[in-house]
Amino acid sequence: MCGIVGYIGRRDAVPVLLEGLRRLEYRGYDSAGLAVVYRGKLQVTKTAGRVQDLRDQVSDRVHSTVGIGHTRWATHGEPNEVNAHPHLDAAGNIAVVHNGIIENAEQLRDQLTAAGVTLVSDTDTEALAHLIAAEKTDGSSLEDAVLRALRRVEGTYGLLVLDVRCPDELVVARNGSPIVLGIGENEMFIASDVAAIVRHTQRVVYLDDTEVATVRSNGYQTRTLDNQRTNKTPTTVEAEAGDYELGPYADFMRKEIHEQPEALRRVLRGRLDERFATARLGGINLDARELRSVRRVKFLGCGSAYYAGQMGAVLVEELARVPADAEPASEFRYRNPVVDAETLYVAISQSGETLDTLMAVQELKRKGGQVLGAVNVVGSAIARECGHGVFLHAGPEIAVASTKALTNMAASFALLGLLIGRVRDMSAAEGSRIVAGLRALPEQINHVLAQEDNIATIAGQFADAEHMFYIGRVRAWPVAREGAQKLKEISYVHAEAYQASELKHGPLALIDASMPSVVLVPDDELFSKNISTIEQIKARGGPVIAVTSGDLPADLADAVIRVPHCTPELDPILLTIPLQMFAYHMAAKLGRDIDKPRNLAKSVTVE
Ligand code: F6R
Repeated sequence: MCGIVGYIGRRDAVPVLLEGLRRLEYRGYDSAGLAVVYRGKLQVTKTAGRVQDLRDQVSDRVHSTVGIGHTRWATHGEPNEVNAHPHLDAAGNIAVVHNGIIENAEQLRDQLTAAGVTLVSDTDTEALAHLIAAEKTDGSSLEDAVLRALRRVEGTYGLLVLDVRCPDELVVARNGSPIVLGIGENEMFIASDVAAIVRHTQRVVYLDDTEVATVRSNGYQTRTLDNQRTNKTPTTVEAEAGDYELGPYADFMRKEIHEQPEALRRVLRGRLDERFATARLGGINLDARELRSVRRVKFLGCGSAYYAGQMGAVLVEELARVPADAEPASEFRYRNPVVDAETLYVAISQSGETLDTLMAVQELKRKGGQVLGAVNVVGSAIARECGHGVFLHAGPEIAVASTKALTNMAASFALLGLLIGRVRDMSAAEGSRIVAGLRALPEQINHVLAQEDNIATIAGQFADAEHMFYIGRVRAWPVAREGAQKLKEISYVHAEAYQASELKHGPLALIDASMPSVVLVPDDELFSKNISTIEQIKARGGPVIAVTSGDLPADLADAVIRVPHCTPELDPILLTIPLQMFAYHMAAKLGRDIDKPRNLAKSVTVE
């Protein structure tokens, strides 16, 4: 969703800001803008279009060494040029860009209006510009003014402020919406997402909630809202500029699907312990005794992260014999959950920014629950809120549809299940079997990827379907749900997932020649049950695409996608890959904008 970028230093800020905004496009936005100081005045350019439109509108004559930029996802007020950020105070001295939601915006706007201020936009953000201007009395620094203004604000913000009267500094603040400072040589970058700045620097500092920083070209100073100085240690980001490039691929989703073997190797690296047939997850900070006292594991996430959690629940139950389940974090936070001290909660998020998941973590912590993060983005809000957990190391995921992060989520939960299992009843021999199974997975995924042509051909045969069923059982049930989700979000073909044995309790009525079913048939103890499922569908004239690691009777299914045999407990990880490719090729055949499906954003930072 919204994105922030800022620059102060020695080069021309305009191209740096435009390039940064372009890197943030993947997050989803509906308007964009920037402000720089030019000839002693704020020069603001905004558009209700794309970053390219903004680039076309910025005058070539404008140069500056300081500026701020923004991509906006509308919350307060429609996506037009007036509502686009930056917003200015009445005198045109102060420009702000803001991510997040000001909850008392209505009240603040009323107070400002009563004080004679005319607000020109419908946004919550504009109020911030006027508040800061009102606090910037003679002699006070911009940082003091921002601090005082923020004390009147309720809500979440990543905030970046430029004052034309102090062009050698920018002020930033964070509360619930990420802000990262990038450190260069006599230049500093500011962003809401390292994607915007990583081509310039990998040395970064993440602001904490309620922290404010003054940034100058030669450094920064931080303090808290209640005026305590803070000391920040810079870290080096894992990602490199090349991770954000398409390379030989036409779109990021296909690139990220093909990166999965390597991404999986990264999440497993150093975490498989052959000697003791277990997993090493140092980041969870739980010793054997604490792990033994876990009575239940509950996974929380949204969308695909929730389906990964369902895969995790099956894995943990099977490997550790500890009851486990998954729940959408978006529901959990609203239902006044009973939080149990002996349950281990796992908050799952690729972006680490999903507001529903963040709120669920905060609710859990308020109630004394112990929560681990399973997060891809280091320094993100959920990772920081959880404090400990498992990083997914999938590398930056740019396509809106999650692929490699989901695979690494499921693999991390296999590691967690193995670890808890081995401090309980799992034998060393069983542990070794799982360790070997995990080690073999990246190469097995390569075998699935090698079938892309076959999968694309099958997608071509079914691309005119209006509806599809995805059918799975037990381990393969979350895989079916995730497969249906992928198809819906990127191809816009309606898809429903059902547990195989539920078909006969209702959905079978919908089966006919116009309702193809993707049936997951791993070669496990339920193989023959799944064959009967296919027969039931075929008997009603329904076309079947079987995804299988077993030997299906000839001509049983209309199309077959083969996956290699793997350790049965790990089947969900392998079975997910062909469904990603199938959805991708369906969407490609239908000419969809695969990386940026309509109505969706990469990070859902609103309720
Ligand atoms: C689907 C998808 C979404 C996300 C969900 C949670 O492909 O990407 O369903 O999984 O919005 O996002 P994160 O994992 O960033 O919390």
